[in-house]
This record gives sequence, C-alpha cells and structure tokens, in this order.
Amino acid sequence: MSTRAPVKDTPIAAVVAPRRHVLDLDDFTPEEIISLLEMTDGMREVMDRDIKKVPTLRGKVVMTLFYEASTRTRVSFEQAGKMLSADVINISASGSSAEKGESLIDTALTLQAMHADLIIIRHSHSGAPYLLAQHLERTGIINAGDGRHAHPTQALLDLYTMQRHMGSLKGAKVAIVGDVLHSRVARSDMWGLAAMGANVVLCGPPTLLPPEMLHGDGPGGRWPSNVTVDTNADRAITDADVVMTLRLQQERQSSGLLPSLREYSKRWQVNEERLKRAKPGVLVMHPGPMNEGVEISTSVAHGAASLIEEQVTNGVAIRMALLYWLLTGPQGEAVTA
Ligand code: CP
Repeated sequence: MSTRAPVKDTPIAAVVAPRRHVLDLDDFTPEEIISLLEMTDGMREVMDRDIKKVPTLRGKVVMTLFYEASTRTRVSFEQAGKMLSADVINISASGSSAEKGESLIDTALTLQAMHADLIIIRHSHSGAPYLLAQHLERTGIINAGDGRHAHPTQALLDLYTMQRHMGSLKGAKVAIVGDVLHSRVARSDMWGLAAMGANVVLCGPPTLLPPEMLHGDGPGGRWPSNVTVDTNADRAITDADVVMTLRLQQERQSSGLLPSLREYSKRWQVNEERLKRAKPGVLVMHPGPMNEGVEISTSVAHGAASLIEEQVTNGVAIRMALLYWLLTGPQGEAVTA
C-alpha cells in the first residue's frame, strides 16, 4: 500500500495505465494524452501557488543526463522534480566519465545502480533513449530529445498550450513551418496532433523536408493520414489555426541545403505579412531557442499572437505531470514494474 500523498486537488479525471518510459508519442493513445493534459491542469495550479512545492515525490530520485545543450528542457525537468519534492541530480556529458570513454549504457547502468528512479536523457544520436530502455531493468527513461528523431515532452507541452487556447484540437489546421528535416519536435508534434484529430501541414524548403515525407511514403511507411507536406509557406499558413515555427538548425546543416539565410527568410519566415493569411486569432508558437529575424520576425515572436513564453511555463507543468505519472502510477500507487 502506497503512503504517497496525491497532489492536493489535482483533478485526475481518467486513470492512465502504468508506463515506465516515455520515448515518443507514436505509441500514445488519445486517452493517455487527454489524461496527461488533465493532470497538467492540476500541476499548473501548484505552480501558481505562493509556495510552489508539494511532497508528492518525496524519496524519488530523478537524474537528468544531457549530452547536448539545453535550457528549457533540462531546467524545466529540474524545476518540475523539485516542485514535487523529488531529489533531482543533473549530469552533463562534459565533466562526466563519458569524457574518459565510458559508454552510454555503462553510464546509465551506473546511475541505475545508484537507485535512480528515472533518467531523463538528451542525446545527439537518434535511438539513444530506446537503447537505455532496453538495457535498464529498474529505472525509467524519458526522452528529452534524441537526434532528429523525437522530443515527446516538447510535443506534449505544445498540445497542452494549444488545447488551453482552443479547447478541442479536432479539425484544427496546424502549420509547422521551417527546418522539418532536422526537427525532432516536428516529428513528435506530428504524432501527437494526429492522435488529437488535428490536420497538420509540414512546410519548408524541399531540401529541409524529409525525403520520405516529400515523396509521400511517410516515416517508416506509417505516416498519419491527417499530415500533409507543402513547400509553399504562404499556402501552408492560409487558414491555419496555429502556426508552429521551427528553428533553422544551423549546427545540423550540411552544405548545400540552403541557398542563403536571406533567401530562406524571404520565402519561409513567419512574419506579420505572411500571418495575415492565417485565421483571425491565429496562435503562433516556437519550441525555442529562436533565431529571431531568420525563421520568425521579432515582431511576431513577441507580438500578441505569440504563445512562446507560455509554452515554457506549460513545459514545467507537463513535466510535473509526467514525473507524477511515471513515478506513482494509477491513483498514486508506486509503479514497480
Ligand atoms: N525546446 C527545447 O528543447 O529547448 P532546449 O533545447 O532549450 O531544451
């Protein structure tokens, strides 16, 4: 019998099944996503309190293991864990034994041996979190971004932010504009939005769209039917309810993918002129960090339609809900499997 106190007043309307890992959203059911978003409302309420701390995860150990730079994801996981009273330990590749050549699996087994309940990992190699999930018997894994592949917690906070403003996402048009090729956010957003019934348009230069998408095969042949691609930003943004702008990932570009930044901005930048084509009341989002003046104009990034700072706030709440869900299971019972 668990003695763990539930988050006070948290409205958990639907019980979700226990999970040990969150690797991507492609295996999430709509019911799981809805339950997590409901749980997140309760976490937002905790964040708004004067004393932003509850004892819910006292005695649990959460480790962040980041092999790539991060501000939002790493800090929000740390803040989420601390607000729920978990012990949070941050490890970055720099300064760890990874610098002496220790393998990723050995590092993770070492942290498991220290009784980490959860490891939150960001890695430049797609699939790194899956590898750890296969090798660890007791410790859960959350994918905080792996290569170009997935960033499920970003997608969940994006869904939550859209839902707060729009209610249902069913039938909404969401244009995701920018460097789709290198974007793990676009891939996870695509799966989450498709599960929630939104219609997604992925838009960017032909060289920055994944070839399998451009040629209609879909990722691994399992591309959701309500996702399309378009290389024309004006057309993609027309009548959109939400415009999600993606960072031009200059650190992942190989030569020849772009004519020039000037040309890119001219044709794909989300700016005020282009936004006039969207629905009145369009919501503008960006996962961050931004290249202002490249993929998004400064006036749009900080304008009335922008939800970019709210995305950051909601990122803390969604990560609180995820930690709670993974570490306590249904109705606050500790998950041991
Ligand atoms: N959106 C996002 O993943 O930001 P960070 O790289 O700052 O974590």
